[in-house]
Amino acid sequence: MYLGIDLGTSSVKTVLMNENQSMVASHSASLEVSRPHDGWSEQNPADWITAIEQTLDAIKSSHADELSAVRGIGLSGHMHGATLIDNKDEVIRPCMLWNDTRSHEQASRLDTAQSRKIAGNILFPGFTAPKVAWVAEHEPDAFARISKVLLPKDYARLWLTGEHVADMSDAAGTGWLDVANRRWSFDLLGAMDLEASQMPWLVEGTESSGTLRKELAARYGMSPQVVIAGGAGDNAASACGMGTVAGGSAFLSLGTSGVLFAANDAYQPNAESAVHAFCHALPDTWHQMGVILAATDALNWLAKVVNSTPAELAASVQDRDAAPTDLIFLPYLGGERTPINDANARGVFVGLKHTTDTADMVRAVMQGVSFAFRDSYLALQSAGTQLNRATAIGGGAKSEYWLQIISNTLSLPLDIPADGDYGASLGAARLGLIAAEEADPFQVCSAPATRKTIEPDSRHGQFVELHERYRATYQSLAPIMSQDLSI
Ligand code: XUL
Repeated sequence: MYLGIDLGTSSVKTVLMNENQSMVASHSASLEVSRPHDGWSEQNPADWITAIEQTLDAIKSSHADELSAVRGIGLSGHMHGATLIDNKDEVIRPCMLWNDTRSHEQASRLDTAQSRKIAGNILFPGFTAPKVAWVAEHEPDAFARISKVLLPKDYARLWLTGEHVADMSDAAGTGWLDVANRRWSFDLLGAMDLEASQMPWLVEGTESSGTLRKELAARYGMSPQVVIAGGAGDNAASACGMGTVAGGSAFLSLGTSGVLFAANDAYQPNAESAVHAFCHALPDTWHQMGVILAATDALNWLAKVVNSTPAELAASVQDRDAAPTDLIFLPYLGGERTPINDANARGVFVGLKHTTDTADMVRAVMQGVSFAFRDSYLALQSAGTQLNRATAIGGGAKSEYWLQIISNTLSLPLDIPADGDYGASLGAARLGLIAAEEADPFQVCSAPATRKTIEPDSRHGQFVELHERYRATYQSLAPIMSQDLSI
């Protein structure tokens, strides 16, 4: 048996998987995000542990025997969060998450030709390094206490094993990794007065990072020999769950964030296009991705405004024709990464009419997110990646209506996997299996069967035209949005 623990932004999901990779049990526990100021996004690491405990307690009460047969655990988690801990392993301040854009000034200062050359990426405000630079400037006492900077899932690892370890895929999102050579960069750390000793030890996602602490082994009836794999950032972990490991394969994740992810056999950076070029979770492999900060999160926002739920809103349009709409929506509620790297960008509707109703706004939000995916697709193309198709995953992919709009906007067939659970938690469990059994990663990380393919239709051209209007809308408003609009 193997456990996969995925620390998501809105919930922790833990799955128990057997030797044949069938799911035996699965439990989730929800998490909240705190947004104390515009552009801020934080969580308390203690809440992650409470949520993980809830899922493990639930699995213990329903499947105690199977839990005691666990041999390997894999971890996945939302990337880039700055979890600062002191020399007693106490958390110094709330973790600033991947979609926290407060450190945009520090990011633009630290983002240099040299940093791009080593880290292979723009130093986005969402990455870990600029956030720690923000702490150095605004909370110097907290900065002075930093003994280690951990990524969110690696804080969970500290709880599980007592070790400070990161995997390559997640470490690539800090802004301190030499991504080509898969090691910390002394130059990038030194530019921020940080030492390599303040970084966790690095392993590949498929390698062991330690074994289960005795107290936890006793509490959950597991062996203290249980191996904890390096694991992966949530996108690389999803890729392991979806079999997106060989060059040319891709997935489109319609989750809180939107991600267009392509596996690469070699390292293919192109920082200027705002494509992310990171290590994959498997040794000697890399990947690229375009990242949208608010994908289903844009629909979540609209649902809150109209006092509904995202599922109700998606259902309200599902029987309509997935036609283009001239109501333009920019989904930049908390800034955007690919391709504009603009922390000041904000959401906009253009073209509201007397007749506009909630369903029109839902369609516009879905279309706006689809345009953001088109931007990411164009960025991937400019970084040398050609796709024939992509597998659609994430909560929003339950809406075939939305997938039809995206497929048309990208002119790309989207495969919907056969029923099952192929997300980051499965990928994490697979990494746990590989590390515990020293199994062949490419054999373990197979692709699911396809249930249905959403094909682009003749409306692609109309979506492309509207995408031009979407881009022009942003370009004309960007100068206004870059001014400090707070009153
Ligand atoms: C990737 C990114 C998000 C988070 C949250 O760069 O910021 O996808 O990992 O899922």
